[in-house]
Amino acid sequence: MPVALPDTDVDQSHFIGRIMRLYLYRRKKDAGLTMKRDIENEEDIKQLVDTFYDHVNTDDMLGPVFNDFAKTDWAHHLPVMYSFWSSVLFGSMAYKGQPFPKHMPLPIGREHFARWILLFVSTVDELYEGNKAEEIKLKAKSIAQVFQMRLGLIDYQAI
Ligand code: HEM
Repeated sequence: MPVALPDTDVDQSHFIGRIMRLYLYRRKKDAGLTMKRDIENEEDIKQLVDTFYDHVNTDDMLGPVFNDFAKTDWAHHLPVMYSFWSSVLFGSMAYKGQPFPKHMPLPIGREHFARWILLFVSTVDELYEGNKAEEIKLKAKSIAQVFQMRLGLIDYQAI
């Protein structure tokens, strides 16, 4: 009586490949290599700010506001922004300035703020995840709302 053998013609290599990839992914995940970290220190703030302004610089809407209109001195502006965000997020009190007046003469509307927020949020998401990452996005959005309100771009009632 012939015994029915499993069909050995079926190529099972892709299953083995999937299992291997799953195994390797789990090992990396356990080692913390696939997870993004939260924003933890000044070095992380610097990384976030540098990456954000790299994006701003190449953005067709925001780039010209900084580079053509304000003629921003980046070597000066970036350290100011490190101190601003470390004060907002960690309470370092390193920032001593007043940000709003700098924005009053700029040729900006709601669309600029929408783009600014989009770039800021996507930069945070690109690099970090966690409570501080959520907090900095919320704070950025709320400051952007206040700026827009003070610039007369949105109605106080809308907030
Ligand atoms: C439409 C969106 C925005 C544009 C186009 C913009 C542009 C600018 C420009 C041109 C400057 C002056 C840089 C220089 O010194 O040359 C500046 C300064 C600054 N901006 Fe903005 N900005 C925007 C939104 C925001 C938002 C939402 C925040 C905060 C969450 C912010 C925080 C600051 C701070 C802290 C400074 C430094 C002020 C100082 O020198 O003390 N900006 N921004």
